[in-house]
Amino acid sequence: MKNGIYKLLKLNSRIKNHRIKFLALYLMHRLGMRYLSVNLDPVMACNLRCRMCYFTDENYVKKLKGVLKEKDAQRMANLVFKRALKLQIGCGTEPTLYKDLPHLVALGKQYGVPYISLTTNANLLTEASVRDLLKAGLHEFTISLHGVSKASYEHFMQKGNFEKFVEVFEIFKKCKQDFDFNVRINYTFNKDNFYELGHIFDTFSGDSFDILQIRPIKKLGETDYQNFDLTEIVPHYTKLLDQLKQQCKTHEILLMAPAKIDNQMSEVQTSAGLIHDYTFCYASPDFLFNKEFDWKREDFTTFTQRIGWSNTLFRNIFKSAEEIGSVSYKLNYELRF
Ligand SMILES: C[S@@+](CC[C@H](N)C(=O)[O-])C[C@H]1O[C@@H](n2cnc3c(N)ncnc32)[C@H](O)[C@@H]1O
Ligand code: SF4
Repeated sequence: MKNGIYKLLKLNSRIKNHRIKFLALYLMHRLGMRYLSVNLDPVMACNLRCRMCYFTDENYVKKLKGVLKEKDAQRMANLVFKRALKLQIGCGTEPTLYKDLPHLVALGKQYGVPYISLTTNANLLTEASVRDLLKAGLHEFTISLHGVSKASYEHFMQKGNFEKFVEVFEIFKKCKQDFDFNVRINYTFNKDNFYELGHIFDTFSGDSFDILQIRPIKKLGETDYQNFDLTEIVPHYTKLLDQLKQQCKTHEILLMAPAKIDNQMSEVQTSAGLIHDYTFCYASPDFLFNKEFDWKREDFTTFTQRIGWSNTLFRNIFKSAEEIGSVSYKLNYELRF
C-alpha cells in the first residue's frame, strides 16, 4: 500500500498547535513549495442520484453546468499543480463522466504531484478504464459507498447498480497484481445504513481495498434523505467501531473513523480543520482557488501577492484558533468535502 499521504495526514492530526502549522504553511508558500490539495471537478454532473447528496436537490442541480476544456485543464495544471501535494479528481460531482480522465491524471504526473486520487461512485469503471488510469499514474481510487447490501445500496445510491459495483472490486483485486495503488472505501453513514457496516467484509474482499473511511452524514442542501439526527446510534457507535477495528486489523486495512460521534456531528474546528481552509484548492470548469482569481489571465504567484496571501498566513501564526475560525473568510468554493 502507498501510504505516504496517510503518514502526512497522521502527522497533521498529531500536531495540535495551529501556530506551528501556519508557520510551516507560510514558509512553504514563500519558498514556492507544494502545500495545496487541488480538488478538481472536471464535469458538473452525476450519473447517480444518491439520497443523501445534493444531486437529489433539483434546484441545486439546475445550477450545475460545464465541462472542463482541454486548454483550461492545461492552464490550471500549469498554475497550481506544481504547488500541489495532492490532486484529487472528483470532489463534488462525478469525474468518470469526463471523457479523458487519464489525461488529467497524466497532467498531475507531468507536474510531479506526489499523490493523485480519483473519487468516484465507480459505476462507470471498467477493467480497461481502471488500467488506463493506473498506467497514467493514479495512486488511489476513493470509492463512495452508502450501503453494504444490494437493497440498501440501491436504495441510498439511486440509479446505482450493486452487481456492477461489486464487480469493480474484483477488477481492483485483479489489477493489484500488476500495479501498486490504494483503494479507499468512503462510507457515509446515517442512522439507517450504520449497522450493516459490520457486514462489510461479507461482500467486499479484504484483498480488494486498503482503507476504510467512515464519515457521518452532513446536511448538504434539500436532499431526498433528511434524517441528520444520529442520537439513536450514538450509544452503539463504540461497539461497532471496535468490531470494525478488529475486522480491519485481520484484513490489514487502515480504518479512518471519528473516535466518537455526537447527535448532529456539529463541526468542531480542529487545527487540521483550520489549516484545511488554507490548503484546499477547489477547481471546476469555471473556477480555480478563489472567486477573485482571474486565472485565465494572471498566475498563482501574482494573484496571491495581490491579495496578500503570505501576510494572511503569517498573521494566523499569532491568532487564536477562535479568531481564525470566526473570521468569515472563505475561499469561496461552493462544493466542499
Ligand atoms: C458528492 S460525492 C462526489 C464524488 C463522487 N460522485 C462520489 O460519489 O464518490 C463526494 C462524497 O460525498 C459524500 N456524500 C454524499 N452525500 C453526503 C452527505 N449528505 N454527507 C456527507 N457526505 C456525503 C459521498 O459519499 C462521496 O464520498
Ligand atoms: S454522492 Fe457522488 S455519486 Fe452520489 S449523487 Fe452525489 S455526486 Fe453522485
